[in-house]
Amino acid sequence: MSTLRVKAISSLHAEFSVPGDKSISHRAAIFGGLSNGTCEISNFLPSEDCLNTLKAMRSLGANFEIIEELEGYGPTKLRIHGLSMKLRAPEAPIDCGNSGTGMRLLAGLLAGQSFTSELFGDASLSSRPMGRITVPLEQMGAKMETLGAKPGCAPLKIHGGKINPITYEMPVASAQVKSAVLLAGMFAEGTTTVVQPAATRDHTERMMAAFQVSCRTVGNTISVPGGQMPESCDLTVPGDISSAAFWLVAAAVMDGSRLLLQDVGLNPTRTAILNVLTRMGAGVSEILHNSTGEPMGNIEIHGAPLKGTTLLAEEIPNLIDEIPVIAVAAALAEGDTHIRNARELRVKETDRITTTVEALRKMGADIEEFEDGMVIHGGKALKGATIDSHGDHRIAMAFCIAGLFASGETVIHGTDCINTSYPGFAHHLDAIRHERKHAEDFRLPTIIR
Ligand code: S3P
Repeated sequence: MSTLRVKAISSLHAEFSVPGDKSISHRAAIFGGLSNGTCEISNFLPSEDCLNTLKAMRSLGANFEIIEELEGYGPTKLRIHGLSMKLRAPEAPIDCGNSGTGMRLLAGLLAGQSFTSELFGDASLSSRPMGRITVPLEQMGAKMETLGAKPGCAPLKIHGGKINPITYEMPVASAQVKSAVLLAGMFAEGTTTVVQPAATRDHTERMMAAFQVSCRTVGNTISVPGGQMPESCDLTVPGDISSAAFWLVAAAVMDGSRLLLQDVGLNPTRTAILNVLTRMGAGVSEILHNSTGEPMGNIEIHGAPLKGTTLLAEEIPNLIDEIPVIAVAAALAEGDTHIRNARELRVKETDRITTTVEALRKMGADIEEFEDGMVIHGGKALKGATIDSHGDHRIAMAFCIAGLFASGETVIHGTDCINTSYPGFAHHLDAIRHERKHAEDFRLPTIIR
């Protein structure tokens, strides 16, 4: 089990870019593999989650070649050969590792195939609810078995077949569920419709548009007619705003700091973190340089003494992955921060309400836990502590950031899991700890094949 040790920093003035977006990389691998030709994907995220999805597509017949590689991790640029929607039965059960997105999206895809397949994952993924996808996929005609020791959990056995188009009203605001139903719907005869209780990230819809698959969104209702052929295309994945969030918080909480993050995804279904940090008092500006497909641009942030805020119910799906690090910002801000309506956090890689509250308390924060969130009474100085990530990548990274503003040393155990979403995080953390400024100091070693 690896460990990171962090001490307080006294300044932060830096410019760099974070690796590619995890959600978009999963979808690029899936749609590239379904398309009718060859797709070049640039700035692919070579994290364990996305590599598992890429390997899953290969086991279904979509081969790929590596063009550029992040040393020690995997492809950042690749060429994937699409199958024109005709997947092959995999020879063995498919390993989704730690990834809920990988498992749920692949389940949707596999529901529409004329073969039986199996998806499995690690202990964390095997304890997360799969009923949210098996229910609509069974309504669509697939037979879904949950084989886990915990009822309703993975491994999943999927007896695919003819897919009926349905209109599905999702009980939870989940982009993963929406995407699973839409992916299955691509194999249906007729139009599949998903109604969301609140807006969720729209990367699947944008990916469909990039591959010329017509998909209609009216308010929170999304429809896709089945039987369309995705047209192959080349894509560049923007930097992941959920990875950027760690450094944005580090800069925001430090009065006098300045950080410029380049080429970050600025999809409005993902940028609520910027509104929250602005409300807390940080100086945030976005410079958009690409607004077609997935919006991308630079984020500049200036730190200031922060004050508490209340997260709005409608903001929660937009910043769900950022909540652990927002809680760290809240502990360092003056006044109270209310994070409620966030019950979904309990079924992420860990129960992130409990893991965040326990770790912040250990560092001396004053925090109340609720069934659906937490209230942080900010302004108490943080002190270094030994923190267990519980195998959750975002908990590990959030508490590395907390350690940058705590007295003494913070030791974070179980940091291997960071590779789930942010290969190169330790290098970037090291550069921040040594108060490096320039993009070259943050560049991760890439090999051109
Ligand atoms: C994701 C959706 C979110 C998010 C996850 C990635 C996606 O989950 O937490 O990290 O790529 O669709 P839900 O929308 O299911 O809450």
